[in-house]
Amino acid sequence: MTAVLAVAHVAGELAPLVKVGGLADMVGALSLEQARRGHRVTVAIPAYRSTELPSGWRRHDLGETEVAWGMGKEPARFEALEAPGTGAGTLRVLRVAHAGDRRFFDRPGVYDDPTTGEGYADNAERFLFFCRAALAGLERLGERFDILHAHDHQAAWAVCFARTHEADDPAWDGVATVMTIHNLGYQGIYDSWVLALAGFGSEVFYPASAFEYWGRVNFMKVGLAFADMLSTVSPGYAREIQTSGEFGFGLEGVLARRERDLRGILNGIDVEVWNPATDPHLPARYDAAHLDGKAAVRAALLRACGFPENAVPVVGMVSRLVEQKGFDLIEQARVELLKLEARYVVLGTGTPRYMEALRALAAAHPERVHYRAAHDEPFAHLIEGGADLFLMPSRYEPCGLNQMYSLRYGTVPVVRATGGLADTVSEFHPLTRKGTGFLFQRFDPGDMVAALRRAIAIYRQPELWRALQRNGMAEDFSWSRSAVEYDRLYAEARAKVARGEARTMERVRQSV
Ligand code: ADP
Ligand code: GLC
Repeated sequence: MTAVLAVAHVAGELAPLVKVGGLADMVGALSLEQARRGHRVTVAIPAYRSTELPSGWRRHDLGETEVAWGMGKEPARFEALEAPGTGAGTLRVLRVAHAGDRRFFDRPGVYDDPTTGEGYADNAERFLFFCRAALAGLERLGERFDILHAHDHQAAWAVCFARTHEADDPAWDGVATVMTIHNLGYQGIYDSWVLALAGFGSEVFYPASAFEYWGRVNFMKVGLAFADMLSTVSPGYAREIQTSGEFGFGLEGVLARRERDLRGILNGIDVEVWNPATDPHLPARYDAAHLDGKAAVRAALLRACGFPENAVPVVGMVSRLVEQKGFDLIEQARVELLKLEARYVVLGTGTPRYMEALRALAAAHPERVHYRAAHDEPFAHLIEGGADLFLMPSRYEPCGLNQMYSLRYGTVPVVRATGGLADTVSEFHPLTRKGTGFLFQRFDPGDMVAALRRAIAIYRQPELWRALQRNGMAEDFSWSRSAVEYDRLYAEARAKVARGEARTMERVRQSV
């Protein structure tokens, strides 16, 4: 066992309290696994209105304080939530509220205003404040942290503040900082006036500095410059983001320069929440040795979709409806998709254009296409359990969780060979009977349809299909393996700090 550490995560989402996408699942499952491994784990998140307190958790008020905000101050309020017994270590959540008039987090949406579907106009200020206040709140807990671990651009400033404004606070004395990239398609790029709010003068704003990005400020870039070690959520994505703008979205050069400090660590999944043998959302339970339960789940899914009960395979999708997820391919291939002997069930919300296209398709072909525009956790489980195939035609995919849920549920993934999808799904070969799904390389509607066609051909051969399902169900995506890799990453970051190589303002200035 490695050293027991005091770990502070800073993140914009955390399952099961507040979730928009996989970030929440990842931070929730990793922090829980770390607590089980004996670490003392605290996760700071914004106090969104929609946060749900899971049963058994205890709540403590930590009071209010003022945090620096440009030339002035803004009031923050904190609350600690303690998880019930996690095993060897501890897990608690620090909720960071904004007590000022503008109520940065006490709103109906997380990142976007649900009435317009657009990001809140003050997101730069919301998450800058979150980072500044999160450190203040963590300091109030009276602990000395060994690791400060920021996730994505919403949390990026935390690693900068710990080495600049807060460097002299005992809570951060000797801390090692880590930044995990979950998605480079979202970097938090804003006009340069936000720098003053962050407490920095224009002298740090010059071309190619950590604080400058094409005349603006890029939150992700700040985090990538200041964190002692970097990681992303799959080995494949770690390679892709250094090599081309297609995946690096302009930060590929910054990342390539930090190649030696960047690790790709595949996400695990929460194998308790996603377990077909115990899943409370399923009308029947099953496992690899007793696959008949899956037929009952499938029948329930067909009923829920209004589909007739027959052997035509059901293709499921559960996804944010955004460009990243490949919905352009679905739109372009819709005629071909309907020619396949398959039915489609899609769950998700997002870009209005994709939602309208799916609504129209479902309205025109109700017996073939079912679309549910909602965030619906139980239905997501029913699709994972009841579908035959699961489609993820992503343009890029840092890790992706649903393909792993699918494998565990005996639902065969058909995925584009990119990032974490290529790392977790392997092509099934009928002769060797090896492989867990079907992949296509190019972002091309014809290639996607061809992969579905290969899948449907195997579906028609029940014996091969069961072999394929069992291959997927035998894979191990539990967090225990990945949590060990995070321990290693933390050890590397701590070793750097111990050698006097912490990413201070001085070092960042020299190296970015
Ligand atoms: P991303 O984080 O890019 O959205 P991931 O595959 O990592 O992609 O994670 C998505 C997570 O969000 C999965 O747990 C998926 O089941 C869930 N999810 C996405 N859309 C919905 C929805 N409409 N209802 C329920 N769960 C959803
Ligand atoms: C991001 C990525 C997704 C990944 C998730 C959790 O939202 O889009 O691929 O699985 O983060 O790390």
